[in-house]
Amino acid sequence: MSEIVTLSFADQRQWVQDRVNKTLLKQFQHLPFNQSQLVTAMKYGTLLGGKRLRPFLVYAIGDMLNVAVENLDVSAVAVECIHAYSLIHDDLPAMDNDNLRRGQPTCHIAFGEAHAILAGDALQTLAFDILSRSAMPDVSDTNRLAMIAELATASGAAGMCGGQALDMESEGQQIDIATLESIHHHKTGALIRAAIRMSALAAGSQSYKLLPLLDNYANVIGLLFQVHDDILDVTGDTDTLGKNQGSDEKHKKSTYPSLIGVEQAQKKANNLFEQALDTLYRLEQQYGLNTETLQNLTHFIIERKS
Ligand code: IPE
Ligand code: IPE
Ligand code: MG
Ligand code: MG
Ligand code: MG
Repeated sequence: MSEIVTLSFADQRQWVQDRVNKTLLKQFQHLPFNQSQLVTAMKYGTLLGGKRLRPFLVYAIGDMLNVAVENLDVSAVAVECIHAYSLIHDDLPAMDNDNLRRGQPTCHIAFGEAHAILAGDALQTLAFDILSRSAMPDVSDTNRLAMIAELATASGAAGMCGGQALDMESEGQQIDIATLESIHHHKTGALIRAAIRMSALAAGSQSYKLLPLLDNYANVIGLLFQVHDDILDVTGDTDTLGKNQGSDEKHKKSTYPSLIGVEQAQKKANNLFEQALDTLYRLEQQYGLNTETLQNLTHFIIERKS
């Protein structure tokens, strides 16, 4: 991202959005049957909006560690493909049964359930296709393999899928805060942590000493991101959110607002926000890193309205 380090935060976000869209489009062009319903549904689930938080993290961490952007595109797009697949499946009738996403009908409403399931499946494997085959000029094969492992673990039963299963099993149940925190860490935190760790791996061995602090930052913003998402589900409005407000209550989801109320949930979010900034401060103090972009991103995570 060093080419855009002088940009405002808003322009950096646009830069990431444009770069991700361009890389994704190139990948879709390489697919056979690229006018088919399947590929059209894959494009629909990835290219129509989205905040690109996980790719932003890949580029921001990479920039902080002086990694050339050509080594970051692969991780940025791979994690976004997994994220997009997770949303397509999250919205399915068998899961959250939602009909609005990013201000548009959800993928299964637009293309039917079978194509939405397959689009999710195909985006998942596309992520690993890209991660294993696409050029990362300065990344060793050993580190590429480690990136594949990071993303695989974060996506599956030990990560996002595991968290999604617990989320559904907890509908209408009385669970404790520790269990809820574990759900959030898995369903949302795992992919955020993978984005950060893949970017650190792109930086090579110079970054290994930073991993404890980076993991700490990842865990805190992963939880913060989902607590804030749960708060927005109560306090936001459908037009701004681009997804149906009140979906969690409708499905009797276990969330921070449902367990402890909106006010305490907001306190928890504020507390996580402070912890995240404190971790960035320690990265600056101990390693002389410039964390300004990550500070801006941390503000964005707690201030966002959609
Ligand atoms: C929504 O993720 C699902 C959660 C993990 C809370 P995002 O809020 O990152 O979704 P997009 O990509 O911006 O639409
Ligand atoms: C979804 O959490 C987390 C995923 C792994 C997709 P939510 O179900 O709260 O996400 P939204 O609110 O539908 O975006
Ligand atoms: Mg869900
Ligand atoms: Mg949902
Ligand atoms: Mg939600």
